[in-house]
Amino acid sequence: MIKVLIVDDYEAVSKEAFKVIKEFLKPGKVLGLATGSSPVGLYREMIKDHEENGTDYQDILTFNLDEYVGLPLNHQESYYTFMHENLFNHIAIPEANVHVPSGLGDVEANCQKYEAMIDEHPIDIQLLGIGSNGHIGFNEPGTSFESLTHVTDLTASTRKDNARFFDPLGEEVPTQACTMGLATIMKAKKVLLVANGENKAQAIKGLLEGEVDESLPASILQRHPDVVVIIDKAAGKLLEKSY
Ligand code: F6R
Repeated sequence: MIKVLIVDDYEAVSKEAFKVIKEFLKPGKVLGLATGSSPVGLYREMIKDHEENGTDYQDILTFNLDEYVGLPLNHQESYYTFMHENLFNHIAIPEANVHVPSGLGDVEANCQKYEAMIDEHPIDIQLLGIGSNGHIGFNEPGTSFESLTHVTDLTASTRKDNARFFDPLGEEVPTQACTMGLATIMKAKKVLLVANGENKAQAIKGLLEGEVDESLPASILQRHPDVVVIIDKAAGKLLEKSY
């Protein structure tokens, strides 16, 4: 079941998303996290809450959705770096508690180990953004609904969307990533998807009102028992039903 919340703008998306995640900031909880611009405002709220209320991350585990293949950990655009800069470095979470898939070495073997770790520590809430082509994680259109953590080729559209981060470095967007699969994401007990901006409107329409089909990976969430989708008006502008 998908619960939908449409709010004015990015800031409101971030604040509402924080209200959902706050319930999970407790010892023993396992958070599934995402990179990209969509969750940054939520991460700011989490940092503010940690600073103001002392929310403790000593006994919270995190698992990130994905990582580019071939980038050194300390690369400016690795998701490992992104997560440390935007969240982990500011909430006093022990390094041993955070997990980001490794895109180095034997990546297939890393993916299998990652899936096994998630099975050992089931994710209580998985945070997601959505690609303009409907991807979640790096599960591009056509990815099997049965997929577990795996290595995938990035589509031209995703590489174009992410070129804004690599262009200033004079580098190309990597061609592959290691990502949780769609079946991995579906194992999470709850899913929180955030999106903003007009370029997400088509994907959001497909997610909420389209057929459940592998051509729109996010549509699998219609089969999940507990999903919250929080979007701004721009991302919701193509929706026909009322929410
Ligand atoms: C990030 C991820 C991607 C992004 C999506 C949206 O870990 O897996 O699916 O959530 O590409 O990216 P932004 O938020 O930058 O628009």
